[in-house]
Amino acid sequence: MKYMGSKRAMLKNGLGHLLDETLIGRNRFVDLFCGSGAVSSFVAQRAAIPVLASDLQQYAVTLTNAIIERTTHFNTETHWEAWIERADQWLEKNAIAVDPASKPDMVTHKRSDQLTWVMKTRTDCALLDNAPIAKAYGGYYYSARQALTIDALRRTLPIKHAVPALAALIAAASRCAAAPGHTAQPFSTTESSLPHLIHAWQKDVFKETKTAFDLFANCRSQIKGNAIVQDAFDVTEELVEGDLVFVDPPYSEVQYSRFYHVLEAIAKGSVSDVSGTGRYPPLSDRPQSNYCLKTSVVDEFDRLMLGIALSGAEAIVTFPAGECSNGLSGSMVEELTDQYFSVKARKVASVFSTLGGNTTSRAARKNTTELILHLVPK
Ligand SMILES: C[S@@+](CC[C@H](N)C(=O)[O-])C[C@H]1O[C@@H](n2cnc3c(N)ncnc32)[C@H](O)[C@@H]1O
Repeated sequence: MKYMGSKRAMLKNGLGHLLDETLIGRNRFVDLFCGSGAVSSFVAQRAAIPVLASDLQQYAVTLTNAIIERTTHFNTETHWEAWIERADQWLEKNAIAVDPASKPDMVTHKRSDQLTWVMKTRTDCALLDNAPIAKAYGGYYYSARQALTIDALRRTLPIKHAVPALAALIAAASRCAAAPGHTAQPFSTTESSLPHLIHAWQKDVFKETKTAFDLFANCRSQIKGNAIVQDAFDVTEELVEGDLVFVDPPYSEVQYSRFYHVLEAIAKGSVSDVSGTGRYPPLSDRPQSNYCLKTSVVDEFDRLMLGIALSGAEAIVTFPAGECSNGLSGSMVEELTDQYFSVKARKVASVFSTLGGNTTSRAARKNTTELILHLVPK
């Protein structure tokens, strides 16, 4: 799935080789900011050592655990058949208010009809007290049918393989959301945006979930690992010599919880009252990272580096080379790490997602240079 700051591309561009070399002789890999799980999953599938991963957000931990905590492949067919049967039954029992026009084949191309559909979906979904995703996000990020399908699948997860099943639903919800690559705001109903919204509303949540479920089922870890919801600094207390620690902190002043609250609601299976154009839950329900605050990022990064150095573990840090909107820059990161470690730096070309992130450009994606630092305690 698309994820702001995902290192998936960089794994093929220098980072993967460095990990392969550096993992030799290590006893454990620790991914302190696991996000989409791309790096943890890469390592878990290749190296015969356990992976410990952490993130502030539950959906990130679920996506990561979908691969790193399972050491066998599985066949999805019987689980999937039973799952969709339970979901269909749930829909039949609970989805009385689904607007029949939300069936894709009934979508019209007339703007006025489309607007009527959107407004009716909003009114209908607001009444669905037993379907939290539809109530919060139906009529915005999702059609009524899509949102209720997400609720139905979330309520009826298979007991066996519940984590990869939930991760598949999160990935599907991300692919289907009527929003540009993340869920800070849904597409609006302006003349230029409405076609994107209507296009997204026709995506098939069942089909996307099955595709993602198959993908997760076909991946497995060599050794059982574990991802947890925890602050990165707190995890440094558990580090030991022999660990290789991967550090890929936020670079944006905008909180990840603002971009991914819809996925978090699906991971948790509930959401408080939402408000604003982004349909945000209250701030108290959205984890706030000190790495996204200009006033605290330097101290936070400094104490993290000290915590890792004190454990005797080696680390790999990735960060954009230029100045970022959270106030940190590649050269500051090099200076801070240099206090505690011998640093070997390399630079690789990368694509930078500036979703709220870059001080100089508002373009959504931009070619840039990213630092990869290999840190050995002094
Ligand atoms: C740049 S992304 C990581 C991307 C990830 N390496 C990948 O390939 O998908 C940064 C992640 O750090 C998480 N985060 C922010 N502050 C954190 C903290 N204090 N402790 C742990 N995770 C944090 C965010 O939720 C986000 O998922």
